[in-house]
Amino acid sequence: MTPQERIANLRDELNFHLYRYHVLDSPVITDAEYDALYHELVALERENPELIAPNSPTQRAGAEPLDAFEKVEHPAPILSLSNAFNAEDLYAWRQRIGRYLPDPEMKLDYVAEPKLDGLTVVLTYENGRFTQGATRGNGEVGENITQNLRTITAVPQRIPVDPNSELAVPPLLVVRGEVFFPLDKFEQFNERQRLEEKQVYMNPRNAASGSLRQLDPKITGERPLTIFCYDLIIWDGIDVPDKQWDRLDYLRQLGFPVTSDSQYCPSIEAVAATYEQWIEKRNQINYEVDGVVVKINDRPLADSLGFVGKDPRGAVAMKFPAQEKTTKLLDVQVNVGRTGILAPAAVLEPVEIGGVTVRNATLHNYDEIARKDIRISDTVIVKRAGDVIPYIVGPVPDLRDGSEQPIEPPTHCPICGEPALRIPGEVAIYCDNPSCPEQLVRRIEYFVSRGAMDVDGFGSKTGALLAEVGLVKDLADIYYLNRDELLALEGFKDKKVDNLLNGLAASKSQSPVRFLTALGIRFVGNVVAGLLMDEFGSIDALAAASQERLEEIEGIGPGTAVSVTTWFADERHQTLLEKFRAAGLPFAVEQTEDESGSDKLDGLTFVITGTLPTMSRNDAKALIQANGGKVTGSVSKKTDYLLAGEKAGSKLTKAESLGVSVIDEARLNEMLS
Ligand code: IVH
Repeated sequence: MTPQERIANLRDELNFHLYRYHVLDSPVITDAEYDALYHELVALERENPELIAPNSPTQRAGAEPLDAFEKVEHPAPILSLSNAFNAEDLYAWRQRIGRYLPDPEMKLDYVAEPKLDGLTVVLTYENGRFTQGATRGNGEVGENITQNLRTITAVPQRIPVDPNSELAVPPLLVVRGEVFFPLDKFEQFNERQRLEEKQVYMNPRNAASGSLRQLDPKITGERPLTIFCYDLIIWDGIDVPDKQWDRLDYLRQLGFPVTSDSQYCPSIEAVAATYEQWIEKRNQINYEVDGVVVKINDRPLADSLGFVGKDPRGAVAMKFPAQEKTTKLLDVQVNVGRTGILAPAAVLEPVEIGGVTVRNATLHNYDEIARKDIRISDTVIVKRAGDVIPYIVGPVPDLRDGSEQPIEPPTHCPICGEPALRIPGEVAIYCDNPSCPEQLVRRIEYFVSRGAMDVDGFGSKTGALLAEVGLVKDLADIYYLNRDELLALEGFKDKKVDNLLNGLAASKSQSPVRFLTALGIRFVGNVVAGLLMDEFGSIDALAAASQERLEEIEGIGPGTAVSVTTWFADERHQTLLEKFRAAGLPFAVEQTEDESGSDKLDGLTFVITGTLPTMSRNDAKALIQANGGKVTGSVSKKTDYLLAGEKAGSKLTKAESLGVSVIDEARLNEMLS
């Protein structure tokens, strides 16, 4: 293919993807894939400048706006940014702009802002009143969505918002911001949409964009959209600060929401360090970020550097490694879990995401497969974020060619062949055969794992081997293994056998909470096991508890209560427990008196929220418990006090609406003194 042909192909393809993304709100490739194509085009056009066409995506910013909204011309072009993908690119950018600076080596400082993955909006204020709001559109002309933006509470209707502010009312101010869907709200919202059989959105960005571009503002008003502002586009009749860092503060003082996650960076090295930190942090915050926007702090200087196409030289977007890619779903395997759950697992055409080759991904359950209408041979979007197992976000139906096959839930366990069972009201499908060999292997794996009994020396393949050769027929058998049997196994030399036996012996002094967790009772993970042992003190007392008694415990729901009583009622489990008891496993909590504590908070229930001035929430929890109080996770009528710090959110609102007393750290200390 000649460069001319390739450029034409890339142009058409990119224009199509721009249209899918901006107009239809329904992209068929991920941002990272788009970026890769875009960069290929940029590189080819750089080598062959005579081949740059006016309709090349490098020459404009986005597609035409929809017809349904009135079009509005922006008072100044709403620019985009060039991308960098690592520190090397960042330093190259700094080097490049040197040529345009008064002194190429001059010391610069920067502001690093989270690059929110939402929707750009342009807000116009005349004499302090919000008069117009528009989407970015193609950067020159956007859509008038004023009515919709008025429904977003975070968008100030008048500035300064504080009527007592000393700041002058600007005769004209045009502000740029990003509207987004907070992540926690997104999950809840999508779930409700699904229940009501309404549109379910692929990701928070699509949900934000879909919600904002509703022709009926009432619908927008029902969505939990919010905004962060970060730039001044136009001002008149006022002076604005020259430094970006101060402009953010100026916006804040006027009453615009401005993220507190931005950072001042005194050097380019500090920017690189901030970027590294963000890669870790990005999955811990309540909004989606796809990079860090790096801006030269001195804005007049930055502006004097000019543009390349639609991208100003004075700023650059450092994108994060991709977390989403598209690939082909080749097959769906059925994995048997330790509780017998038959879990669907995707077999994928291998795809590299963020430096790791992904071949498998979870599909959660068969209801979800049906709901998302995922089919074998579909092109699917795969996401790998932080430590979570890669999962399938959804299919790209527009890329179907008719050869796709629906995915049927299994009717039998693929390992033992027993019929599969569905418990009413639950999404999971189970293999109900407790002797299913695969279940036993999974249960052993779980029992010895770090989060449970944490048995040293128990290798990852040991469980499967012991079950296969028949040395372990139930969980308790691992405590009855003897040296000679083990030495007879392939690959088991003296040292390995010693390690294994020592690890098992040592695990008998783990806490009963770990032991209860390790039993693998459905819904009884570490936290619930802790609650139960706090309440009952021993496995035997727990075994004797009724369902009603269990449900009285805060944090234990009916599902867990049924699961626990059913487990202990099963004779096979009773036999198993006796075998464990005979082997010396820990059944009861040892009573210790905490001398540092008191009973001042006896009978009082606390909920903790927000950032406390001196203690972490965990410290506060420990302090309350040491003084006889109880700490729970959610506010209800049973809550006595909400201990609230800075940035307290929905829990505070709930406490206020229920009339629960709200106290701060100082008040807690008073109560204890
Ligand atoms: S500055 C010339 N700052 O990222 C200034 N953009 O291409 C250009 N974005 O579409 C924008 N957070 O919608 C800037 N803190 C931030 C941003 C941000 C998100 C978006 C913006 C733009 C894209 C950059």
